[in-house]
Amino acid sequence: MCGIVGYSGPGNSVGPIIEGLSRLEYRGYDSAGICLKINDELQIIKKEGKLDNLKALINEQKPFSHTGIGHTRWATHGGVTTDNAHPHGNELFAVVHNGIIENAGTLKKELQAEGFVFKSQTDSEVFLVLLTKFYKQNNNTLQSIAKAFNTITGNSAFVIIEKASDKLYCLKRSAPLVVGDNKETREAFVSSDPFALIGFAPRIYFPQDAVICESIVTDIDVKINFYELDLSPSERYKFQSNAMTMDSTTKGPYEHFMLKEIHEQPSLIEKLAAYYIKNQGRQILDSLKSYRPTGWHLTACGTAWHAGLVIKNYLEQINRQSASVDIASEFRYKNPILNKGEIGLFISQSGETADTLACQELCKENGIQSFSIVNVEGSTLFRNCDQNFLIHAGVEIGVASTKAFSLQVLTGYLMSRAMEGTLDDPSLFKEIKLLSNRIGELCSNVESIKEVASEIYNKKGFIFTGRGKYFPIALEGALKLKEIAYVHAEGYAAGELKHGPIALIDEQIVNIAIVGPELFEKTISNIEEVKARKGVIVIVGPKGSSELEHLSDYYIGLDFEGLPNLSPLYVNVALQFLAYHIASLKGTDIDKPRNLAKSVTVE
Ligand code: G6P
Repeated sequence: MCGIVGYSGPGNSVGPIIEGLSRLEYRGYDSAGICLKINDELQIIKKEGKLDNLKALINEQKPFSHTGIGHTRWATHGGVTTDNAHPHGNELFAVVHNGIIENAGTLKKELQAEGFVFKSQTDSEVFLVLLTKFYKQNNNTLQSIAKAFNTITGNSAFVIIEKASDKLYCLKRSAPLVVGDNKETREAFVSSDPFALIGFAPRIYFPQDAVICESIVTDIDVKINFYELDLSPSERYKFQSNAMTMDSTTKGPYEHFMLKEIHEQPSLIEKLAAYYIKNQGRQILDSLKSYRPTGWHLTACGTAWHAGLVIKNYLEQINRQSASVDIASEFRYKNPILNKGEIGLFISQSGETADTLACQELCKENGIQSFSIVNVEGSTLFRNCDQNFLIHAGVEIGVASTKAFSLQVLTGYLMSRAMEGTLDDPSLFKEIKLLSNRIGELCSNVESIKEVASEIYNKKGFIFTGRGKYFPIALEGALKLKEIAYVHAEGYAAGELKHGPIALIDEQIVNIAIVGPELFEKTISNIEEVKARKGVIVIVGPKGSSELEHLSDYYIGLDFEGLPNLSPLYVNVALQFLAYHIASLKGTDIDKPRNLAKSVTVE
């Protein structure tokens, strides 16, 4: 959600800022802007719409500046307009912001009553105006930043540059922020995501909440200072060398990152299994052997929540342990019953989702241990949890999550098998290998799914159904389709359809029915009910069944054999392809669907 990049150094800041914003554009693409310090003036260039619009302006103007900040926006307060695009600036300061200032409305009225004028409808500008007001009183930037930050509420990250120097300032509360430096080139960087700094900053620092970072570049050095809000020196930050590589930042031969990421799944699945069963990850999983918490609380958002629903099934069916799964934005406000001996398990690709982070905090406050299943090493969730189970998906750029889901579920499955003590069971590796092969076959033979997509893509609505372990896959299949194809789609438990949604069925509604080998007959009866009401039937089920062939309008046959626990992942990849090809026929922006952001760092 909103990408932030800042640069100070001897080179032209425009290059690293635009490159960083390009890498972060998947986080927000309502508008983009840059502020550069040129001839002791703060010059802002910003534009509504995708980053390309800003790039065109920059190409015309070809600015050069040693210090600058940039931003790609996912709108919270104020419409999608050039005025509301960041940075926000005046004669003294320029600011970029990620997050929400919750008391912005009240503060804005007070400031307007004092005579301050606002140029945008954003909450972010309130921070700029506060900063300016305090600076006019005390002439001290650090003090003014601290005071402005103490005045606002809500979770935010800010990067600030000033007319008076070439320093970069930044600070945050429960929002991602990373500072980097390169001692050799004497450059300092700031970003909302270390991904933007790959290849630029070999050293990175993660400040904790309410720590002001001040980057100073001199003729001989680059230095990062950290302060508490009372301006005493702070040690509340974590240093890390930046070992990330660039291999995930290009689409390769694929038309979209989403397609590339779907295709990466077979090899990532095998690598993850090898990591956890045979290599370094084994030690982490072995610590779970005979582990018996009194209960699990799984929380997550979006696709990661669906992964949680599949993992709950493993915990209950394989381990016979009780597990609840909640949407994080619900869990945090429901006054959950949390007892000692239970575990909070937080699932997140980014490790930065605000609601998921708040749930982890809540568990911590209540004295229960937190585990994560997370992709981004070093993310806030990763840093805050007692134990992390990394999914090693690499960077996921497509806003609609694909490979992260598969690897989250697989990690949960391996955790469950570790608790059961069956990691060395040869059938486990065999099943995972088979899953990888089957997904590989799907990847190289997607024509039949494409054909189905071409028959149904113009229909009015889609109801995905499944039972048991396929019910979460019905939810995820529907989410994927609505995210990228902008059509109404919902996931339902097949047996529940007759309790309401069946009223929707007519010849314009498609039922994507997942049929597993389990509860086969019962699921068939559910499909018959839809067929009787003229719904279009697409069956995703065991291949070679004349019954399914006969019952369906379109039939996607899959080989479920040998996948007793992992077939949901296999079915899910078929639905990823279906969503992708429907979206492709509709001509939507698949990697950057409208209104969405990859990482939602506001509640
Ligand atoms: C956003 C994304 C979803 C994602 C969800 C949770 O809404 O668009 O694809 O599933 O956030 O993100 P996380 O990073 O916590 O997995």
